[in-house]
Amino acid sequence: MKKTVRDIDLKGKKVIVRCDFNVPIKDGNITDDTRITAAVPTIEYLLEQDCAVILMSHMGRPKGEPKMEYTLKPVADRLAEVLDREIKFVSSPAVVDDAVSKAAADLKNGQIMLLENVRFVKGETDNDPEFAKKLASLAEVFVNDAFGTAHRAHASTALIADYFDTDHKMFGYLMEKEVKAVEKVMNDITRPFTAIMGGSKVSSKIEIIEN
Ligand code: 3PG
Repeated sequence: MKKTVRDIDLKGKKVIVRCDFNVPIKDGNITDDTRITAAVPTIEYLLEQDCAVILMSHMGRPKGEPKMEYTLKPVADRLAEVLDREIKFVSSPAVVDDAVSKAAADLKNGQIMLLENVRFVKGETDNDPEFAKKLASLAEVFVNDAFGTAHRAHASTALIADYFDTDHKMFGYLMEKEVKAVEKVMNDITRPFTAIMGGSKVSSKIEIIEN
């Protein structure tokens, strides 16, 4: 098991967290906020450690363009309700620009900010080192808590980790919980067993079912 937020002293650090806030939205309303509430234990732990917390995620498949139907603004609003705290939402079509870098630099301990949809930039799905470096430049520590996106080798999920040394990158609680669940199914289970599978993109589940 990789390092988790518990394994490293994070007191007072500036942390960038990759979440999976790819939630279903209808007419501007979030119809299922499970992925938002699932991110809360890690965010609350980081706040307890007096961190400044920068959150990032993708939403939908805007194909490298800033299509506003895929903005993360509704997620910022819902997360603010769930946490009962202010979420500084810094929307930029470039995701990271000078204004966003300044907002991240100015973010104080105990504050939270959310970046715009990382897939507004083509470099996200292209796994572009320049984009990964820009995201990494915002913080001292990288936490990956985006289990729902763990199968994607993208700039904000995979490549960004190259810009942090081993003591400054780790999993969050959601990732830890899900990895433990998968390890149990793979290594420590009485066979035969029954698996109940959910999700909307059936095509991407076929390989798992076959496995
Ligand atoms: C999902 O909902 O499966 C994840 O958020 C990944 O989204 P993607 O299939 O668009 O990469």
